[in-house]
Amino acid sequence: SSKKTQVVRCSVKTQEEQIYATQVKRNPNFAKLQAGYLFPEIGRRRAAHIAKHPDAKVISLGIGDTTEPIPSVITDGMKNKAHGLSTLEGYSGYGAEQGEGPLRTAIQQLYSKISPHTGVKPNEVFVSDGAKCDIARLQMMFGSDVTIAVQDPSYPAYVDSSVMMGQTGLYQTHSQQYSKIHYMKCSPENDFFPDLSSTPRTDIIFFCSPNNPTGAAATFQQLEELVSFAKRNGSIIVYDSAYSIYITDDSRPKSIYEIPGARKVAIEISSFSKFAGFTGVRLGWTVVPEELMYADGSPLGEPFPVIKDFNRVMTTSFNGASNIAQAGGLACLSEEGWKAMEDLVGFYRENVSILVTALKSVGLTTYGGENAPYVWVHFPGQSSWDVFAKILEEANIVTTPGSGFGPGGEGFVRISAFGHRENILEAAERLKKLFG
Ligand code: MLT
Repeated sequence: SSKKTQVVRCSVKTQEEQIYATQVKRNPNFAKLQAGYLFPEIGRRRAAHIAKHPDAKVISLGIGDTTEPIPSVITDGMKNKAHGLSTLEGYSGYGAEQGEGPLRTAIQQLYSKISPHTGVKPNEVFVSDGAKCDIARLQMMFGSDVTIAVQDPSYPAYVDSSVMMGQTGLYQTHSQQYSKIHYMKCSPENDFFPDLSSTPRTDIIFFCSPNNPTGAAATFQQLEELVSFAKRNGSIIVYDSAYSIYITDDSRPKSIYEIPGARKVAIEISSFSKFAGFTGVRLGWTVVPEELMYADGSPLGEPFPVIKDFNRVMTTSFNGASNIAQAGGLACLSEEGWKAMEDLVGFYRENVSILVTALKSVGLTTYGGENAPYVWVHFPGQSSWDVFAKILEEANIVTTPGSGFGPGGEGFVRISAFGHRENILEAAERLKKLFG
C-alpha cells in the first residue's frame, strides 16, 4: 500500500513579511467612492474580454480618446520649441504658473472670435495641463463646505472629485446617488436640460455643454436661464466647454460668456484634448473673470475676487503647463493650426454620422452626435451594463454604459466617434448585424 507522505510546511512569518501598517488613518472620503473610476473599470472589462477571446478584433469606442495624428503644423511648433531648449537662446526653465503671455492672449482672442461680447481678458486665462486637472484644483479651492449640483448623467470627474473633497455624504444604493449632491436629471423628456424650477440652490453648478456623455448642446435660451438661475441663487457655474469645437449649430453658444451676465457667475474650463488630439500632450485652460466674487473674504468681510484664490491655487500646486505643450497650443491657435484642427474635427464628425446612420438604420434611437463626438444610444428598459456586455461579447466593441455617468444614464450606452475610419466602418457594420 502506498503511503501518502504529507509535507507540512511550517511557515513563521518574519516581522518584515507581516503586513506593516502606518498609524495614518485613511481619508474616509475615499472609502465613499464606488468601485473604480469609470474608464479604468471599462479598461479592465476590455482586458478581461481580450484574455478570454485572444483572437477577437476588439474595437474601442469606450473612453473618448482621440486617435488621429496631430497635424504637423501643430507638432512643428512643439518640435521647434523642444529643439530650442537645447540652445542657450531657446532654453527656458520654470514659466509663469498661469501660462505664457502669448498663449493666454491667443486664448483670449479665441473668445473674441467666438463673440465680441465674451469680455475675456488675457489675465483671466489660466493655462493648465487639462480640464480634468483644473476640476480637481477648483474643488481644492472651493473646499469641503460647498454644495454642488451636476447634470445627471455627467462626466464622472465632477462627482468623484466632490466625494474626495468631502463635499458629499455617503453613496445611497437605492438612488445610486451621493447624498448632498443634487443630480439634475437630463433626459430626452426635458431636451437634456434640467428643470431648474425644481432644482434647489447649491453653491456650485457643474454644467458641461456640449455634454459628455449625452452630446446635447444647450441653446442660448437655456443658458440664459441657467445664468439667471445662478444669479438669483448666488451660485457659481463651472462651465465645461471641452467639446465646444464640435458645435455645428449656430444657435448653441460655444462659451458661457456669450450669455450676458455670465462673467459674474461663471468659471469656464476647456481643453485642447478633443480639439487637437492633445489627450497625451496635455493642455487646457480655465477662465476666471475678475467680476466673479465670493460673498465674503475681504478683511472687512466684503466680497472677495475668486480669481485671486484661483491664482493662489495655481501658484501653490502647479508650476505651469509644459513649455513644449504650450508651444503646441500656440500653434493650434495660429491661422493654419486652426484650419488643421477644424479638418481633424471634421473627420470625427464624419465618424459620428457613419455611426448614427448605422444605428438608426436598425431602428435604434440616438441622441447627441450633431454637436459632439458622442452618440447617446437609447435602450429603453434595459440595463446599461447588460447592453455594454452584449455589445462587447457579441460584436467585440467597447462602449461606455450610460449608468456609469450617473443614474440618469441608465438605459443608455455612449458610443465615442474617436476612431480610425476603418474601425468606425467596421463597428457600424457589426452594430447593424447585432441589432438588425
Ligand atoms: C471620456 O471618455 O468621457 C473622456 O475621455 C473624458 C475625459 O476627457 O477625461
